[in-house]
Amino acid sequence: MTPADYDAWYRTPRGAWIGETEYRLLRDALAPRAGETLLDVGCGTGYFTRRFAKDGFAVTGLDIDPAMLDYARTHAAAGERYLQGDARRLPFPRESFDLAVSVAALCFVEEEGLAVAEILRVTRRRFAIGLLNRRSLLYHDKGRHGGSGAYRGARWHTSKEAAALLEGLPARGVRVSTAVFLADGGRLARLVERVLPRSLPLGALLVVAGVRTAP
Ligand SMILES: C[S@@+](CC[C@H](N)C(=O)[O-])C[C@H]1O[C@@H](n2cnc3c(N)ncnc32)[C@H](O)[C@@H]1O
Repeated sequence: MTPADYDAWYRTPRGAWIGETEYRLLRDALAPRAGETLLDVGCGTGYFTRRFAKDGFAVTGLDIDPAMLDYARTHAAAGERYLQGDARRLPFPRESFDLAVSVAALCFVEEEGLAVAEILRVTRRRFAIGLLNRRSLLYHDKGRHGGSGAYRGARWHTSKEAAALLEGLPARGVRVSTAVFLADGGRLARLVERVLPRSLPLGALLVVAGVRTAP
């Protein structure tokens, strides 16, 4: 899949609904304050990087794939900057950003524990890490037997596994929340999304978030 094809999905009715639903979950989990700096690890084509930047945050997107970054740079929307780098060795001093987010990226990173530790190292205040939920209907549709489409090769987590990634790291108030319970994005999906609580561990996107503490 090319970066343009990947990003075009976010402009389909289903992709736009999923993107915005996930953005709201991430934003609420981060509880950002006006003007804070934010790092987006594994930013891909920059969908969430742009979205946070449009809301007024000073955002840096980082990805390992130069083709994804080329697309993101040429579609930058609100002054966000992009850098190439590896989530397992982030090229920033400790506490460089107020906030850090990562969406559906660490599920493609070998040694995800290193990446989680790096995210906490460079963050001053809060973090939110979005993973794919193995207890979701989406997993049954797209995740089994090695996965299909954009999910091929992804690792899927349970909420317990997601919370366990923070064990032994400088974090407190760790919470797991989910969204996108029915991923077809139809009328029923939109209704269900309004009534089910985010604490229900069945949504396709699993977000583990918390406060970074002094190590
Ligand atoms: C499924 S895409 C998600 C992109 C974007 N966060 C989104 O939600 O649209 C996964 C991204 O993780 C990036 N990635 C994979 N391994 C990485 C690593 N070790 N360091 C940084 N980025 C990585 C890939 O290049 C890809 O852009």
